[in-house]
Amino acid sequence: MDHQKILILDFGGQYNQLIARRVREQQVYCEVKPYDLPLEEIRRFDPIGIIFTGGPNSVYAAGSPHPDPGVFALGLPILGICYGCQLLAQELGGLVTAAQADSAREYGKTLTFFDPSCKLFRGLPEQSVTWMSHGDYLAKVPEGFSLCARSEACPTVGICDESRGFYGVQFHPEVNHTQYGSQMLRNFLYAVCGAAGGWTMAGYKQEAIENVRARVGGGKVLLALSGGVDSSVAAALLAEAVGSQLTCVFVDHGLMRKNEGDEVEAAFAPWDIHFVRVNAQDRFLGRLAGVTEPEQKRHIIGEEFIRVFEAEAKKIGQVDFLVQGTIYPDVIESGKGDAAVIKSHHNVGGLPEHVDFKEIIEPLRMLFKDEVRALGRELGLPEYLVSRQPFPGPGLGIRIIGEVTEEKLALLREADAIFRQEVARAGFPMDQYFAALTNMRSVGVMGDGRSYDYAVALRGVLTSDFMTADWARIPYELLDRVSSRIVNEVRGVNRVLYDITSKPPATVEFE
Ligand code: XMP
Repeated sequence: MDHQKILILDFGGQYNQLIARRVREQQVYCEVKPYDLPLEEIRRFDPIGIIFTGGPNSVYAAGSPHPDPGVFALGLPILGICYGCQLLAQELGGLVTAAQADSAREYGKTLTFFDPSCKLFRGLPEQSVTWMSHGDYLAKVPEGFSLCARSEACPTVGICDESRGFYGVQFHPEVNHTQYGSQMLRNFLYAVCGAAGGWTMAGYKQEAIENVRARVGGGKVLLALSGGVDSSVAAALLAEAVGSQLTCVFVDHGLMRKNEGDEVEAAFAPWDIHFVRVNAQDRFLGRLAGVTEPEQKRHIIGEEFIRVFEAEAKKIGQVDFLVQGTIYPDVIESGKGDAAVIKSHHNVGGLPEHVDFKEIIEPLRMLFKDEVRALGRELGLPEYLVSRQPFPGPGLGIRIIGEVTEEKLALLREADAIFRQEVARAGFPMDQYFAALTNMRSVGVMGDGRSYDYAVALRGVLTSDFMTADWARIPYELLDRVSSRIVNEVRGVNRVLYDITSKPPATVEFE
């Protein structure tokens, strides 16, 4: 694609994707690449500037990651953040050491003083709070560089050589705790790299549509639609680009939330595509009958999904392209070593073995989640689909502890719908929230009689990456409303519990 690009070299820091999102928020396109990207490929990528990310290493330690040294001679501006700053300094003749005094080691919010004549800090207050996280110290500034930021503990918080466009900061401008971080990044992009801006989702949409048309030609395209944000946006994009050649197969496994199947179908009505909805509830429930072990349930649902999808695909015959809703964080993360399998995740769009296709199209491959949502809005998808919270591929199947039955599904759908309605009405912000059906029944009193019914558990979490999550402090009044409505309106439930465990040690889902 033909627009200005920033290259982000990844040295393994925890905020690397955040840097990329912040750059794109400034309407400048960027990509994250491994730190050891060969010089040739850097040239081919043709960036207008480079950012070195932070990282967990010490630049002076043996085996610490270093970029191709030729990167400094490309004539391109470079911004080094934290580890990236230390790297820049060391590679150009400075000296980095472990901070001797504890006071030179900085973690957390730090009052920082800036030189506003430096382009990076132009137009910003002379002092503000930054977010630091470094144990190493820049003991000697390289030749040609001057100091442009300091804190009370550390005189070398920021360095620059404006003639070469080299800047280094010890703090993290990409995190929200750094008061003017976005403006500093903006200054780097616009004042230093000369970015013109203008990279927007409206522009991306047009480009992506043209690319798909050029690639697909008159070919047949197949897409597994789950109703989640990614597959929905991918479907809308393909529908816009090559509608009449597109078949979307939506497998309704009967484990969806209340009204979800109909909503997904309605959302795609405006496009002239071949939309196949397979109502496969009986098939899934049949296979799940008597099964209680979580991994086995996941396995059955995942496998059955692929089988149903394959059966539909066979009816269409040979297709040329299979669409996958892969998004950029998956691309960046892939190949970083496998963590222990806590749960075998099932994603709709996992590759079926028995479908004949020539190529895979991943139209969202370069987009972050918030960009995928923005693209969905550009494409005219309804807000309830675009802003949908994550919903696991195995659906309510893993939110019902123990055996999944039609009766339990009906209970859970109602309870979950009430919870979601009340949260939306209260406007209480959470990253994911839902009801789960415990396998526990307990005694209650309803009117003058005894009841022996199910307990519903509510779950609400705050998280940025879903790897860790904190339980949401939902106001008591809201919990109270949800609880009374559930026990009054959902027959078969006489108790409501709220899950107050974080992840770890719990997970977000119950199974
Ligand atoms: P856990 O339960 O692992 O969930 O803490 C983390 C996030 O992942 C979602 N999740 C899934 N998403 N297929 C998916 O597409 C799955 O099999 C799956 N299992 C969990 C979960 O909803 C949460 O957002």
